[in-house]
Order: sequence, then C-alpha cells, then structure tokens
Amino acid sequence: MERTFCMIKPDGVQRRLVGKILKRIEEKGLRLSALKLIRMTEAQARELYSVHEGKPFYETLVKFVTSGPVAVLAIDGAYTVKVLRNLLGATFGQEAQPGTVRGDYGCSKGFNLIHGSDSPEAARRELPIFFRPDEFVEWTPADLSWVYEEPERS
Ligand code: RTP
Ligand code: MG
Repeated sequence: MERTFCMIKPDGVQRRLVGKILKRIEEKGLRLSALKLIRMTEAQARELYSVHEGKPFYETLVKFVTSGPVAVLAIDGAYTVKVLRNLLGATFGQEAQPGTVRGDYGCSKGFNLIHGSDSPEAARRELPIFFRPDEFVEWTPADLSWVYEEPERS
C-alpha cells in the first residue's frame, strides 16, 4: 500500500470545487485516510515547497497557498502517487489535458487547483507537515476486492 499527500489549493476552495475534485478522487477508486480544511501557516508553505526555494516563483507560490483555506488529504491504495498525479494533469492549466482536474478546471500557470506528491519519498516528507500520526484513519472499503486484484491489495 502506498500513501500520498494531496492538497486542494486556495483557488479550488474559493471556486467551490472541493466536492467535484473529491468526487473524481473517490470515483477513481482511491481511498481517503485523512481529510481536513485548514489555513496553512507560512512555515508549512515554505516547508511543503522547500524543493523550490530560490526559484523565481517560490515567494509567489508561498503567498498563494497561504492566501486562503486549503483542503489537505491523505490517500491510500496501490500506486497512489502515480494515479493521483495522472488525475491532476500537467502542472499548468493551459497545458493540462482535458479529463484531468487541471485540464478541466484551470487555465492559469500558478492557480492550478491541486497538489499531489510527486514520489513516495515526497509523500513521506509532506504528510507530517500537515497531519499528526493519530489523524490517519485505517479502514477497508467495502468494495476493495473489486477495485484491486488480489496482489495489489496489501
Ligand atoms: P505541485 O507541486 O503544486 O503539485 O505542482 P507540480 O508538481 O505539478 O509542479 P512543481 O514543478 O512542483 O511546481 C510547484 C508549483 O509552483 C508553481 N509554479 N509556477 N510560474 C512558473 O514557472 C511556475 N512553475 C511552477 C505552480 O503552482 C506549481 O504547481
Ligand atoms: Mg510539485
């Protein structure tokens, strides 16, 4: 099982797209193991995007993600990092394919609605920035045996 981190960014919350985005995640077969609406601190934003420190867009990015509430979630399942990244689409809305969250709902570069960890290592680093260990809920969805083949379930 792989656990990944996902965040619906301030533009997604302000545009009331949280429900539609969660619907896509759930309908894909992904399983939520944590979910909350927060106003992230500047320190959390700097830590989340620390790999981009020093790049021209870093300060703008920190300002953007702290500009309003965000929804943070943890997602469990098989290959969740890749599955979620495919569902988000390319980084910039104007380049993202239709059928993806960014391709269907955005046409901006920076305002791209959603974040997903880009590797299992990144997920392990990002999740504790937003969640305490006791905030994750372990559970088995009723239809698990129809979402994954047997070897994929562990
Ligand atoms: P994210 O981390 O938010 O999931 O996005 P990503 O992996 O698709 O893209 P990444 O390269 O990690 O960039 C992080 C965020 O920075 C903003 N950005 N702006 N103006 C620019 O050239 C530029 N490049 C990146 C985007 O908001 C991107 O999501
Ligand atoms: Mg990234």
